[in-house]
Amino acid sequence: MKQSGGAGMEQKAADPATASAEGGADRLVFDRVTKRFRKPGPGREVITAVQDVSLSCGEAEVVAVIGPSGCGKSTLLGMASGLTKPSEGSVFVDGEEVDGPNAHVAFMLQRDLLLPWRTIRANVEFGLEIRGVPAAERQRRALSLLASFGLADFADVYPHQISGGMRQRAAMARTLAHDPDVLLLDEPFSALDAMTKLVLQGDLARMLAERRKTALLITHDLEEAVALSDRVLVMSARPGRIIAEIPVDLPDRDHPLARRRHPRMGEFTKELMALLNIDDMH
Ligand SMILES: Nc1ncnc2c1ncn2[C@@H]1O[C@H](COP(=O)(O)OP(=O)(O)OP(=O)(O)O)[C@@H](O)[C@H]1O
Ligand SMILES: [Mg+2]
Repeated sequence: MKQSGGAGMEQKAADPATASAEGGADRLVFDRVTKRFRKPGPGREVITAVQDVSLSCGEAEVVAVIGPSGCGKSTLLGMASGLTKPSEGSVFVDGEEVDGPNAHVAFMLQRDLLLPWRTIRANVEFGLEIRGVPAAERQRRALSLLASFGLADFADVYPHQISGGMRQRAAMARTLAHDPDVLLLDEPFSALDAMTKLVLQGDLARMLAERRKTALLITHDLEEAVALSDRVLVMSARPGRIIAEIPVDLPDRDHPLARRRHPRMGEFTKELMALLNIDDMH
């Protein structure tokens, strides 16, 4: 299996004794994972959604996954979150085999899934409440996170009273509230308009770098994959396998706009388009 650590970390992880402190520790590992589903409806047809996927994400590493629709990207995240089990192989988070939902990971989806009857602050506190964190501590953490996402003035309003971009930012705060090690991001920006998307990508990238979070980011947006990650994994059409791994050896992982302006940005997206067989010849 490939050693974890993005392009910029390789030299640092050379000494195994310091690997953990320097970003070499594996936070999320897929070891030869296959997932089959029985097709809904009559008949007993089985489809293989994901086939023999091995990957590892190191501490503080952001790995993007791209691939055609239906190739099993969300299924991968489902298995990492513990909501679905692999048919073969294993998934490990922080060295422990995933065997159901656990506090080490957090999910963020395309839709914000905020609870409409709760204020923004109460939404951010929700996961902490379930985990029995005392009220004062919940409130302190929620307000601090909301402040760091520029939502301090909106803590006491309800989701319908703020914009889609702000709701998605609140969802980011909620995802981070219980301080998970691993973030599973399933097209978190795809429902947003282009400008809001750029702003939120910046917020996410800065936060991931500052808090040294590990993230597996699913996206259909090739530039987003390159702008936000240390490596891009490319999946084949179903049954989804990993067919290529592109290290993104560009600076500024915490500043996606700078990466978008980097002269080599186009090289990466072109390579990804070729791997995905997207015709860019006209
Ligand atoms: N619970 C399920 N039961 C049966 N089939 C499923 C289930 N979940 C996913 N599948 C099938 O597995 C395949 C992969 O689905 P998945 O949602 O992981 O794809 P995806 O890569 O995330 O697609 P998209 O890019 O459109 O979001 C699809 O063919 C889908 O129909
Ligand atoms: Mg999906």
